[in-house]
Parts: sequence; structure tokens; C-alpha cells
Amino acid sequence: MTDIMQKITLGILGLGTVGGGTVNVLQRNTEKISGRTGVEIHIKSALVRSLNSERICDCSGIQMTTDHLDIVNDPEIDIIVELIGGDTLAKECLEIAIANGKHVVTANKALIAKYGNELFAKAEANNVSIAYEASVAGGISIIKALREGMSGNEIEFIAGIINGTGNFILTEMLEKGRDFSDVLAEAQALGYAEADPTFDVEGIDAAHKLAILAAIGFGMPIDFESVYTQGISGLALEDLKYAQELGYRIKHLGVAKRTENGIELRVHPTLIPEKRLIANVNGVMNAVLVRGDAVGNTLHYGAGAGAEPTASAIVSDIVDVVRRISSGNHSASAVPHLGVAAELLQTQKIVTVSEFSCGFYLRLTVNDEPGVMAQVTQIFAEKNISIEAIIQKEPTDEQKIVQIILLTEECREKLLDECIQEIQSLSAIQAPAVKIRVEHLS
Ligand code: HSE
Repeated sequence: MTDIMQKITLGILGLGTVGGGTVNVLQRNTEKISGRTGVEIHIKSALVRSLNSERICDCSGIQMTTDHLDIVNDPEIDIIVELIGGDTLAKECLEIAIANGKHVVTANKALIAKYGNELFAKAEANNVSIAYEASVAGGISIIKALREGMSGNEIEFIAGIINGTGNFILTEMLEKGRDFSDVLAEAQALGYAEADPTFDVEGIDAAHKLAILAAIGFGMPIDFESVYTQGISGLALEDLKYAQELGYRIKHLGVAKRTENGIELRVHPTLIPEKRLIANVNGVMNAVLVRGDAVGNTLHYGAGAGAEPTASAIVSDIVDVVRRISSGNHSASAVPHLGVAAELLQTQKIVTVSEFSCGFYLRLTVNDEPGVMAQVTQIFAEKNISIEAIIQKEPTDEQKIVQIILLTEECREKLLDECIQEIQSLSAIQAPAVKIRVEHLS
């Protein structure tokens, strides 16, 4: 590094898994990053919970503080890197930083999903940018791909495995027969899970990410509250296995789809034909399938969580902001935060769950007695819903209880629910039906 090289100064909020990974990547690749930006990036200070904790990175030369104001009000700091998560202190930090004319890089999907619209407006009014690539799908550059790489397309749908913890759990359960809570504990130890892991297993984290992607894809304000959200905690291993038997995999999928009735925004366990690449995305890996009218299908794949994959996206955002500062273009207007100037974003009608349209997997627990199958199929025939596949398992005990598993063609969820209601009233039915949505993604 030469003495005449411009220096840009960072303050990092949070030195946990992702913060520590970010420092490691910045330090290890410092020469390469300076070569790419023509700028020396200096980490001046870091906000920590405790000054004495063990860290995964070398913090020599970094001033540590437990007071966020030391960093967000420091006039020497150009860029705030927010990695504390949550939406209270993090929000306050961003607001102060923006008001102080600092750019922000953040991995905080909860914050962007809930407050992105107002934070982006504040950033634009203060001529600074908020870079948030790491907020969705860890190391995959999906925000840049969607916002910039696919800007010539009308986006038809986005379907993504966007929670690494959930995908890790489903993979380990199916492949190794492991217990749900056991795998979740391992995901926490590996630094994949959120501070509150119910965000992972109940789909909230994926809903945050889907809301962000949908806003970019469909040119609308972020609308997290409208995302239909169902987690994986209620999934039974036998359904993962039956789905496999039928030639499918169950993935926790986020779907944002343009339909004639409006935009479907939904996160739920989903059967996907095993021949689709995305059905074979396993472990902590994430993948996002985006279909544009010009490009067709594109699949974006990579590690969705973990210290350095997430740091990869954070550092690329730092590089973007550094380039913007060093070129003298501080403004966010060249690439609007959501890909469309804030005043041109269009609120869209969001489809309610009863109007969703997809295929369905149903598992019925019934008495093994003559005529049950005929009664069930008759109910579907009356609603004009075609059954695509059906299997019946032999009774496994004296009680003569059997499982019937069937797949329907695509239909309105409301119609399917009416069928389920009628089926539940049959005398042979022994347990509530299990319903899982199916997406062919073809
Ligand atoms: N808990 C998140 C996940 C981290 O498992 O995907 C990355 O956003």
C-alpha cells in the first residue's frame, strides 16, 4: 500500500460470527481488495457486547467499545458495517449514521424487511446508501443479480431456499434420520441459526428475505407483513420419505409469484420434483430460482449462512460503497436501493392464502375398510380436481390404520381446503390430514 493511497474508514457494529468473519476476510485479502478499489480500507473501531470475550478474528489495532455512539457519531468513520442484528439498537444506529452522512453496509434482513422503506428514504434524503447484499442468501449475490443483472426483464417468479438452517435440518433429517432438535443445535453451534432460532424454523427469517427479493423483483415497496409464513417445525420425517418415494423433495421454499390475481408471497414447506436442480440443494446451501421474461430461468446457488460466506457479501458491499465514495459519487441514485426510484415503486395487490394456486400433497390416515379410497377420490372428482398420483401403505398394526398419500394437480387452495373438510368428516378418517404445497417450477 502506498502512502498516497486514499484511506476509507470503517466502524463495525458487532464482532460475533459474521463480524469476526468480515474482519478476517478484510485482513486476509487486504492487498487484493485495495488493488480492486485503489483505496486502503481501515477498520477503526468495533462495537462489542463485552470487551473481554473471545473472538474469531485478530482485533489488534481495532478500538473496541461497548457504546454504539462512539462509532456512529465518529466523524472519522465513513462507512458503518452493521452486524448486530435485531431491529431496535440496529435501527437507531442506522438512523444516526445516516443522519451523520455515513454510508451503511448491513446483513440485517429483519431490519430491512420491516423498516427498509423508511430507512432507504432517509438514506436517499441524506445522499448516502445502504448496501444490504448479505441480508439475503448469505454469500450469493442475489440482490445484485436481481436488481442489476436482470434489470431488463419482467420478473415472473422468484422461488428460493433462503434459510440455510432450515435446509440443513431437512437434509440431515432425510439423509441421516437425525432428530430435528439435535440438528438445530448443531446449526446453532456452527453459527448458521439466528439468535432466536424460531426465526429459522418458523419461516420468519425466510419471510424477511422473500419480502426483500419480491420488492426488488416486482418494483414494489417491501411488504413483509403480507408474506404468508409457515415453518418446518411441524414437518414429519415420514412426509419427507413419502415425498421422496413419489419422486419429490420437500424444501422450505420462499415463493414470490406474479399471477393474474396479484402477487403471491409465501414461505412454506414445498414438494419439488427431484429432477429440478433446486430440489437437490442440500445442507446449509441456499439457491434462488428467478425467472425473467427475457432470460428464462436462472439459478443462483451458494452457502446461505456462516461466517465467511456472509462476510463475502458484506465485503463486496463495502467494496461497492468504497468505489462510490472514491469516485466522488456518494449518491445512492445511480442504483436505487430497490432497483426503482422510491417514488416509482408501485404497491401491488397481494394474493390471500385461499386464492393461492399450486399442487398439493395430502396424507390421510384412515381405517383400512372397503370404499374409503372411492369416497376420497369422489370428493376430488366433484370439485373437478384431478389426482396426479396416489399411494396407499399397508396397515402396520392390528388396528388396520393405513396412510393414503396423494398428489393433486394445481388448483385453488380454497377448493382443496373444501375437499379436506369433507374428507375429515368421513367416518374412516383417523387423524387430521397433512397438507403440503407442491411447486413444479417448470
Ligand atoms: N439464520 C440464517 C440462515 C442466517 O440460516 O439462513 C443467514 O441469513
